[in-house]
Amino acid sequence: MSPFHLTRILPEDAMAAALRADVRGGLTADPKTLPPKWFYDAHGSELFERITALPEYYPTRAEREILADRSGEIAAALPARTLVELGSGSSEKTRYLIDALTSLRTYVPVDVSDSALRQAGQALVAERPGLDVHALIADFTSDLTLPDTPGPRLLAFLGGTVGNLLPAERAEFLARVRALLSPGDALLLGTDLVKDENVLVRAYDDAAGVTARFNKNVLAVVNRELGADFEPEAFEHVALWDPAEEWIEMRLRSRTAQTVKVPALDLAVDFAAGEELRTEVSAKFREERVAAELAAAGLDLAHWWTDRQTRFALSLSTVR
Ligand code: SAH
Ligand code: AVI
Repeated sequence: MSPFHLTRILPEDAMAAALRADVRGGLTADPKTLPPKWFYDAHGSELFERITALPEYYPTRAEREILADRSGEIAAALPARTLVELGSGSSEKTRYLIDALTSLRTYVPVDVSDSALRQAGQALVAERPGLDVHALIADFTSDLTLPDTPGPRLLAFLGGTVGNLLPAERAEFLARVRALLSPGDALLLGTDLVKDENVLVRAYDDAAGVTARFNKNVLAVVNRELGADFEPEAFEHVALWDPAEEWIEMRLRSRTAQTVKVPALDLAVDFAAGEELRTEVSAKFREERVAAELAAAGLDLAHWWTDRQTRFALSLSTVR
């Protein structure tokens, strides 16, 4: 049997229904919003990979530095036989962990993007003979049933993607992650840190305009899946820092007054000139807040590692 298995936990019709519900709910709300998980069709996943290489986008490089330096310590703290990774994308940085975890038998990447899972999974089984890759197409905010593989388990959630959840969603998510873990398992969590506003805003508004294209890709997804007539050029990419919430917001600002039709929902959406649609929050953290949110979910922060410039943190927490 092939060591690469791909299981669709999220059936395509359920995904289509979720998109319809999110678009109807988000575009009829005031202010308008769309959840960030819809950025990641094949093109969006490719654009995200381009973002990770931009000079302004430091989080990927900072987290890679921590993994390169600390994977040995992580593996010593938790010699996992199963590595589960939520929002695994290209699994590029994960290779440091896979190489350090000498008892590892099974890698379970979980993502909504089947193109990312296929590419990453097939490359990994070719590179790491003997590693069983059991990829899951799933939404980590709803259905988190994991295959029955041997423990101890390390559950990794890298990239700072936890910051793309709103605080209430994050609390619910962390509690469900805790429920998936048994004593002896651990959570490895990547969190971007609060820092100078200019550095943050530039990371989300790069000079080459790749992040703007990534942001507008959600409109292309709604056009393709729901027959909508969004014109990406009719919207301007906006990235701003909210100092009270300590998060970056990405928005799409309507350049003019316009009406967008979404035929699959029998919906017409009016935008005023200058009206903004929020497409993502990306929360930035301090150690105390990470520890408090983990504790509230029944997880104890055991290790905290940062890159040399203290831009990004990886934490390892255990089940209480
Ligand atoms: N971990 C990688 C990728 C981060 S990009 C890195 O650090 O570079 C965020 C990833 O999470 C994307 O691959 C996206 O498809 C996935 N994702 C976003 N929301 C998701 C959700 N609700 N359920 C599952 N995957 C999700
Ligand atoms: C996946 N996630 C952690 C990215 C972030 O930085 O919040 C998504 C992203 N949005 C714009 N650029 C990158």
